[in-house]
Amino acid sequence: MRMSRRELLEAGIGVGASIFLPSARLLAQAASLIQRKIPSTGESLPIIGIGTARRYEAVTTEAERAPLREVLRQFKETGGKVIDTAPSYGTAEMVVGDLVAELNIRESLFIATKLGAHGRDAGIAQLEQSFKRLRTPKIDLVAVHNLQDTQTQLRTLREWKQAGRVRYVGITTSFERQHPEFEQTMKAEALDFIQVDYALDNRKADQRILPLAADRGMGVMINLPFGRGRLFTAVQGRSLPIWAGEFDCASWAQFFLKYIVSHPAVTCAVPGTAKVEYLVDNLGAARGRLPDAAMRRRMESFIDGL
Ligand SMILES: NC(=O)c1ccc[n+]([C@@H]2O[C@H](COP(=O)([O-])OP(=O)(O)OC[C@H]3O[C@@H](n4cnc5c(N)ncnc54)[C@H](OP(=O)(O)O)[C@@H]3O)[C@@H](O)[C@H]2O)c1
Repeated sequence: MRMSRRELLEAGIGVGASIFLPSARLLAQAASLIQRKIPSTGESLPIIGIGTARRYEAVTTEAERAPLREVLRQFKETGGKVIDTAPSYGTAEMVVGDLVAELNIRESLFIATKLGAHGRDAGIAQLEQSFKRLRTPKIDLVAVHNLQDTQTQLRTLREWKQAGRVRYVGITTSFERQHPEFEQTMKAEALDFIQVDYALDNRKADQRILPLAADRGMGVMINLPFGRGRLFTAVQGRSLPIWAGEFDCASWAQFFLKYIVSHPAVTCAVPGTAKVEYLVDNLGAARGRLPDAAMRRRMESFIDGL
């Protein structure tokens, strides 16, 4: 197979180098991103998206915006879709809204935000603010943030879904102490999506929450896939095991992400991504082979043994 210059550029590969060094890895990088279906509709999403907590939260100058603009531009060019943000992430919703409008890429993206408020009026006011900041007439997914006033906010979200302003509704958490209440809410409510913390060294969600999501037909978005960078610290100074090549893994980021997205209940993961270098690396986890069940056990033993 020969790749066009455009395909090489889309893969984030320098043309000069790749013409002389065609390899299975480069070919895998140019392949389209692996997709999963949202259970409630069958709509497909690429398995790796972008999270905007922290690095998009305090962006005020053009110098701070420029690298994020390039991340979003290349994300779209490469076939990326899912961007996760929240009203509580400082400037993040505004930065995403401005850059997406500037780049004119809204139509090809799946924008997910959250609702974290107490009381119906406060929830509605926050939602209106998200629409303004994101500069869009329709938000793809709004999830109740960390189970704040869940029943009230879900009621509003369903009304807005009915009115066509929100496409999917869900709930999020990233705290283990909330998992029991999260599970109860999943059992009691019809939800399109859940978002939960899950990482190679934080596997509690796979005991009850992920199987329940599969049973209930809920899409699953994974937050904190690197444990906020904790996993990179755990493997500092170590080389990737040679067997990582068996599932087309070329970096630690891909090792951690491929573990997550190979769970059959997972729809996508949203690693915090604010640098083009990270974007290219992270999207590589949505290409090539994924670990099978036996390989996943091996990855767990590896990380547990550090
Ligand atoms: N309750 C909730 O709803 C909830 C809670 C938490 C998070 N979230 C969502 O989940 C997303 C992910 O969480 P997070 O961003 O806090 O943590 P994360 O994705 O686990 O980790 C982000 C960290 O990984 C580093 N990184 C990213 N790609 C890398 C790569 N290829 N190589 C090396 N390092 C890399 C970043 O480095 P730098 O520091 O250099 O940028 C950043 O420090 C958030 O952005 C947010 O959208 C939701």
